[in-house]
Amino acid sequence: MRALTWQGKRDVRVETVPDPKIQEPTDAIIRITSTGLCGSDLHLYEVLTPFMTPGDILGHEPIGIVEEVGAGVPDLQVGDRVVVPFQIACGNCWMCLTGLPTQCDTTQVHTHGMGAPLFGYTRLYGSVPGAQAEYLRVPQAQYGPIKVPEGPSDDRFVYLSDVLPTAWQAVAYADVPQGGSIAVLGLGPIGDMACRVAQVRGAGRVFGVDLVPERLRRARARGVETFDLRSFDDEKELVAAIRDVTDGRGPDAVIDAVGTEAHGSAAARMVQNAATVLPRKLSGPLAERFSVDRLAALYTAIDLVRRGGTISLSGIYGGTADPLPLLTLFDKQIQLRMGQANVRRWSDDIIPYLTDEDPLGVEDFATHRVPLSQAPHAYEMFQNKQDGAVKVLMQP
Ligand SMILES: NC(=O)c1ccc[n+]([C@@H]2O[C@H](COP(=O)([O-])OP(=O)(O)OC[C@H]3O[C@@H](n4cnc5c(N)ncnc54)[C@H](O)[C@@H]3O)[C@@H](O)[C@H]2O)c1
Ligand SMILES: [Zn+2]
Ligand SMILES: [Zn+2]
Repeated sequence: MRALTWQGKRDVRVETVPDPKIQEPTDAIIRITSTGLCGSDLHLYEVLTPFMTPGDILGHEPIGIVEEVGAGVPDLQVGDRVVVPFQIACGNCWMCLTGLPTQCDTTQVHTHGMGAPLFGYTRLYGSVPGAQAEYLRVPQAQYGPIKVPEGPSDDRFVYLSDVLPTAWQAVAYADVPQGGSIAVLGLGPIGDMACRVAQVRGAGRVFGVDLVPERLRRARARGVETFDLRSFDDEKELVAAIRDVTDGRGPDAVIDAVGTEAHGSAAARMVQNAATVLPRKLSGPLAERFSVDRLAALYTAIDLVRRGGTISLSGIYGGTADPLPLLTLFDKQIQLRMGQANVRRWSDDIIPYLTDEDPLGVEDFATHRVPLSQAPHAYEMFQNKQDGAVKVLMQP
């Protein structure tokens, strides 16, 4: 089959690789019809190089048709249309039954001390072949795949794999009081969708911050009060501007939908870059013990949120040696929640919103649809935020 493979820093290629096969009775094979490109993939493209192996197949946001099922997957039939969550979990352990499939007791990646494995997401998360490919082997298929009806376009459901549950969890963890205020830092696919979810879940005012004009425009068109980072001299000024419109207190909650590659944070950027050019044997172990994040957005969130408010991190952080202003976190009595999205915890709550009325605007959420053969170009375009790229879907 054809698949998008990682070869090196900013070097991804579509190659012919062996077709996946059923290996366990709980596996299924999916023929992918549409598959997303995510901000998380951009981390692999550049700063997470130390955790990658050339040839890794990327991608974790697929929808498709069941092609084959193992004997241990009673509820799936060949021909079913399914969305596959980005994490692999059993559905049956204490963690899964508690609503935390990202922490699944059965599938945790013990060799690296990490939670549930993720499709197409580094050695740390189990080196599982990803979904920017024609076919995908889905382990633990008795739990993960979400059956969706025939008829509506792939775009209607594809975001159940990641964007929707991630945005939903971000808003749930932000715990905004009804009618309260929330600021979302970063208006990429996750931040943009988090604004939409906050609106339908009853937030009173939704503020959005980014520095890419068309991303700001997209959010503004849906009623988000936007702030362009470029129009402020520094983060302090941005924070002051948002405080001004929230009775001087700051918003009840802040979602950080930026993560480790935040604009700003020049020193941390240098350390991240250095790690990506070290010889592979050195860089992996070193990065597991000493790594830093670009914390500009998180620092802004800590400053911005009102005293006693909540910060919800959906942007990915991976530092083992980050300096954090714990004095401020403690003194402001901030509540901090974070993590990979627990997809099946939220999917049944989200599906009622995926109707013809399309309150979350999923049907025209994608800005670009490209054949899988153009994936390398799509990565470059999405990373450089060229050509208005916000969400790219690829068709194998
Ligand atoms: N928790 C999860 O389960 C989960 C799932 C998917 C994605 N993510 C993470 O969420 C983050 C966002 O993903 P995405 O697909 O929207 O990616 P993206 O890269 O398209 O979006 C990030 C946005 O942040 C903006 N930005 C950069 N620095 C900023 C700053 N200092 N202040 C405000 N905005 C700034 C960028 O211009 C960009 O628009 C990534 O870190 C991704 O890995 C987490
Ligand atoms: Zn994703
Ligand atoms: Zn489990």
